[in-house]
Formats: sequence, C-alpha cells, structure tokens
Amino acid sequence: MQLFPTRPAVPRRSLLNFPTLWKKPTPRTVLVIGGAGYIGSALLPKLLARGHRVRLFDRMFYGIEPIRGVVDHPNLEIMQADFRRIDKLVEGMRGVDAVIHLGAIVGDPACALDCDLTIEINLIGTRTIAEVAKGYGIRRFIFASTCSVYGASVGEELLTEESPLNPVSLYAATKLASERVLMELTAEAFSPTCLRFSTIYGISGRTRFDLVVNLLTAKAVIDGEITIQGGDQWRPFLHVDDAAHALLQTLESPLSQVHREVFNVGSEDQNHTIQRIAEMIHELVPSAKLINLKASGDQRNYRADFKKIREQLGFDPHWTIRQGIQQVIDSIQSGDVKDYHAAKYSNVKFLVEEESTTNLLSHESRWAYDLVTRTLMFPRIRPAIAATSAAA
Ligand SMILES: NC(=O)c1ccc[n+]([C@@H]2O[C@H](COP(=O)([O-])OP(=O)(O)OC[C@H]3O[C@@H](n4cnc5c(N)ncnc54)[C@H](O)[C@@H]3O)[C@@H](O)[C@H]2O)c1
Repeated sequence: MQLFPTRPAVPRRSLLNFPTLWKKPTPRTVLVIGGAGYIGSALLPKLLARGHRVRLFDRMFYGIEPIRGVVDHPNLEIMQADFRRIDKLVEGMRGVDAVIHLGAIVGDPACALDCDLTIEINLIGTRTIAEVAKGYGIRRFIFASTCSVYGASVGEELLTEESPLNPVSLYAATKLASERVLMELTAEAFSPTCLRFSTIYGISGRTRFDLVVNLLTAKAVIDGEITIQGGDQWRPFLHVDDAAHALLQTLESPLSQVHREVFNVGSEDQNHTIQRIAEMIHELVPSAKLINLKASGDQRNYRADFKKIREQLGFDPHWTIRQGIQQVIDSIQSGDVKDYHAAKYSNVKFLVEEESTTNLLSHESRWAYDLVTRTLMFPRIRPAIAATSAAA
C-alpha cells in the first residue's frame, strides 16, 4: 500500500504565522486522531504549512466541512474510521513518527449522555491507541487532556501541574484516567505528553457554540441577551488557534523536554470568572442585556498556572479573549455562522439529534453481527440474529 503518493511539492505558508516557531522543523509523518473537530481543524493547516505529512484518522462526526480548506493537500491522507476498530488503527499507524490524539466524546453534557460509551471511547480507546502506537515503536504521543481535571478547587492559588486534582464530571474523570494510563505506559521508547487545555474559544473549521465564550457571544449578537448563572466560577481560556499552536510546538520540541510530561496550556492573564467574560462580551456588544440568574449548577472552579509550558517549551498564546470575541462577532455578522443553535455546533445536541449514542455503543460488535448474519447457512436463524443486531 502506498500511503503517501508522490505529488509535486507545494509552497509552504509564511512562517510569520508562527513567530515562535521560526526554526525549520524536521518533517514528520503525524497521525492526528480526531483531527476533524474543533481543535483538529485548526491544527491540520498548521501542520501541513510546516511541511509535516498528516494522516487524519477520524470518524468524521461533523463531516468533511471542517477540513474543507486542506482536503486536497498533497501531504494529507484521510482515514475515516472509528479508533475502536483495532484493524483500522493498526493500518493508520503504519509509517507514522508521531501521534496526536484529540478524538473523544468532548464536554460534560455530551459525556453524561452515556457513561459506558464515554468510557469506551475516551478511556479504553485512548489506552488501545497508545498500546498500538507503543507496539509500533512510535515514540511521540501527544494527548489532549483538559484543565477540567482540577474541577472544584478551593482557595485562591493558581493550580500547577502538581496541584491536587478534583474532577467533578465523567468527562474530566476519563481524561485524568487516560493521563494515568499513558504515564504507566511510558518507556524509553514511548514518550507520552499530556496537554491540559484551557476552555477553548474562537473560530475554526468546526467552531463549537457549546463553549462559554462562543456561546455567550452568539447569544449577545443574535438573541440580544447574555445570560449567565452565578458567574463567580474561575476558568482559564485559550483561543483555538493557540491550542493548535501548542500542539505543534509540543510536536517540534526535543523529546527530552516533553517525555512523560504534563503541561497546562494557556496563560495566566486569560484566567477569568464567567461574570468577567460576560462583561467583556457586553463591552463589545453593548446593545445586549446582561442577565445573571445567580444559581449555578456547575461546580468547576479553577485558575491555572502556565509557567511550565512557557518556560519549558516557550509557549505563549497570541490571541486575547477580546480578539476572540470580536472574531466570533464578525463571523456571525458576516453570515459565516448562520444558526448557532444548529446541532453541528454543539457536541451534546449532535449526539442527541443527529447520531444516536446507542448506535455508537454497538459500533464494535455491529460488524461481527453483520458478518455472522451474512455467513449464516441456516436462513431460519437469520432473522433472529438480524433482530439481535438491530437491538445491539
Ligand atoms: N474544546 C475545548 O474547550 C477543549 C478543552 C480541553 C480539552 N479538549 C480536548 O481536545 C480534544 C479535541 O476537542 P475538540 O473541542 O476539538 O472536540 P470535537 O468534538 O470538536 O472533536 C472530536 C473529534 O473526535 C472525533 N471522534 C470522536 N470519537 C471518535 C472515534 N471513536 N473514532 C474516531 N474519531 C472520533 C470526532 O469525529 C471529532 O472530529 C478532545 O480530546 C478534548 O477533550 C478540548
């Protein structure tokens, strides 16, 4: 199988896009799992512009649209598959130098829909991917974790990678458990790096409007209201382009700096309360009414420290929250984003309205049922098996 057919070289984009990445990188062949989502669609163009070859491995929940801009790039290969299919995973790992794993059921509400499915995809899936990568001798393994692992923190201090962890949702628990599994798999020839991302905002190929900055901004512009509940919870924030930049920077850092490391990803000046986020949006959309319903069901409250990634990898975000809010406003006003309520912009809505979790849960066994049904010699039994398959 020829994985990367030779095609004429394309000119690289200007490195001015990446002021801190001025050095010419060693081109790598990178398997990006879950790379057609919110962060992945911002990452792919950057990887390709830096001369890396990319194999995108994604079930494509949100279709091809998020990566439309790079779909014909000669250094991009697309594998549409579920990473719970080991045969596909093994095929996807061939010839790869590094794995970036972004694939997951993402967010508290989406993960709460089906506990078994979330554990199967977020934790068991991650372990399987890492074991296959390790078996293939692929040393660099970058995992997208979350600052949500800090959960309900008390006290005023900034949380470092060493601070106590207190996840308060299944989503955060599966991410923390995955970090632990990856750390246990570490070996001289297997170097996992866990990036604990702040809450992301801004526009990418698959913008999400189920995240606080984007959602409140859309509500302000379209509904004329910024409604928050409580608002005194702290959270760190990061633009989606900067998240992609951090992944790229981790990929291009010497292994000695990232081997078995965990990094918070963001910047201290983007730790804000939800109330402050609402006020910033209000400053840019003054016509909207700011409403605080007081009671909040969200226990998450954390302010993170980002000294480690700044000093060890030289990472500093380029975007400010105000710029991100303005970018979202512009996208709505220009008509790029038409209906922010649409299921494609929200992970939980998508799973409820477009894709059934039952269907996803039975993914691994369905092929076996189908094969047995097709292979069965006794037509009398076939309907019974077919019925079991449909119910699975
Ligand atoms: N967006 C944030 O605010 C944020 C914050 C912290 C961490 N993260 C982490 O970053 C990663 C990417 O987040 P995102 O916001 O881009 O999410 P997303 O939901 O937009 O993208 C996830 C992608 O994974 C794919 N996928 C899911 N299950 C799959 C499976 N079984 N097989 C193959 N592909 C599968 C989906 O098709 C989708 O393209 C996630 O791991 C998430 O936990 C995100």
